[in-house]
Amino acid sequence: MSDWQRLCAAVDLPAGAAFGGEVAGIPVAAFNVNGRFYALEDRCSHERVRLSAGPVAGDVVFCPRHGSRFCLATGLALSPPASEAVNTWEVRVADDWVWVRPR
Ligand code: FES
Repeated sequence: MSDWQRLCAAVDLPAGAAFGGEVAGIPVAAFNVNGRFYALEDRCSHERVRLSAGPVAGDVVFCPRHGSRFCLATGLALSPPASEAVNTWEVRVADDWVWVRPR
């Protein structure tokens, strides 16, 4: 699966928002941090909670269950209890849609 896939309408991802959807059966979260877009697999590597439901500060998202922090740019787990990274996806906005594809 290397082609770009639609995740959501661009209007559904305004600045400061996150959107959790699914692409080819994989949960994917997209984040708009003041016009910078990021996309991650939408599953915490600890207990698979959706990261799109967590608060964001800068380029870091906090898992809503136990508070592990993940870098939106790299997917790296920055604090326990999660210790494994989550996959990052490429993301772009074009034609009023948010598009993603796996790296
Ligand atoms: S479920 Fe995310 S840190 Fe535990």
